[in-house]
Amino acid sequence: MFTNKFKSIFLVYILSVSISPTIQAKESFSGKEIYQNNCAVCHGPIGKPDQDNPLFGQSGVLPANFTDPLFSSREPGKDWFMVVKHGGAAKGFSEIMPAFKDVLSDRDIKKVINYVKGLAGSHRYPSGDMNFILPIRTKKAFPEDEIVWKFRFQDDANNSKRDQVRNVIEIEKRIFERVQLSLELSHKADDGVDNGSGNIDQIEPGIKYVVYDDPSRQVISSVGALIAIKTEESNSSDEFIPYIAAAGRLSETLTIQGTARSTLPLRKFSNGNVELSSVVHWSPSSWPRSFKPGLELVSSFPIDRGTGPGRKSFSQLSLIPQTQIGLNKRGQVMLNLGAEIPLNDSGRYDYRWYAYLIWDFADGGLFSGW
Ligand code: HEC
Repeated sequence: MFTNKFKSIFLVYILSVSISPTIQAKESFSGKEIYQNNCAVCHGPIGKPDQDNPLFGQSGVLPANFTDPLFSSREPGKDWFMVVKHGGAAKGFSEIMPAFKDVLSDRDIKKVINYVKGLAGSHRYPSGDMNFILPIRTKKAFPEDEIVWKFRFQDDANNSKRDQVRNVIEIEKRIFERVQLSLELSHKADDGVDNGSGNIDQIEPGIKYVVYDDPSRQVISSVGALIAIKTEESNSSDEFIPYIAAAGRLSETLTIQGTARSTLPLRKFSNGNVELSSVVHWSPSSWPRSFKPGLELVSSFPIDRGTGPGRKSFSQLSLIPQTQIGLNKRGQVMLNLGAEIPLNDSGRYDYRWYAYLIWDFADGGLFSGW
């Protein structure tokens, strides 16, 4: 029994050793070989392009440096897959970057991209594969280089309160390997008309740190904090807003993100709340110019619910159907649209409409890649 089993294992071993090298030599190239044969002329033998390469001569275009870990890590592998398969022009890059769809199989393209990703060596930058879609309310866990213009219209047609428009500019900048600094400037106006001053009424500096990431399972988690400083003379207090954000990939096309955050007015913490939110996004297409719909659930728990008829519900729930629309070919300029529907305590507002214009400035200028 034992000897038979041993014999068959031995046979399989001998067979596989004797057959596999011939199969490999005939049909399969390693990522490194594919790179040296197809890419190195332009991208350089170790991934650093040569300034004096006559191939780029007058064009003024030089391929990016694959050995730079910040650059290499932040580009999602599937974006590179699209560039290599369909060529630079299809993704709003230079047409000097050829399309390899007739030369390399999808498997070989994946192999060469894996190899190229390795050229940056080992580092602690989180992988851009976990840079998911920006939700309307949920905080992202991935650190970004981004400028976002956030517009919100609060529709109070059926209430005595007035409609309100809020505009926010948010600037996010990565520093070190896992930190992001941010600054939000907001301006509110009633009835769409400025209520007296064109001034910014809130400044919100923030910091975020990636505490955990696992590129193989595609999960990432961060902690962060913001301070909302009110610049106007008003009754509202400055706020401290700590949060935890986590995100993960459910499948090729589905992602989930969630945040737990607390808004704590510095004057009286008990006027604050704890908010849990979560969103699932669907990205049916790998092309940037496409719709990526999502559904977000927000529940806000007031720390002090008050008493009497004005007593707040245990939790205020709202649902935000939304979509991201990629505007340009390269994918660094996007528009997010959403509508927030209160599910209970509907006296708060009727609807909130959101429009976010996002510019991921690390991937190119606002006007490049169209
Ligand atoms: C004929 C020259 C040439 C060859 C061959 C070539 N590339 Fe490129 N590649 C370029 C240029 C030029 C760019 C930069 C385009 C730009 O920035 O507008 C580029 C851009 C890229 C990018 C996009 C990087 C970014 O900025 O996001 C990737 C990924 C890439 N190449 C991978 C490859 C791979 C893998 C191969 C081989 C299978 C290859 N290239 C072969 C010239 C070439």
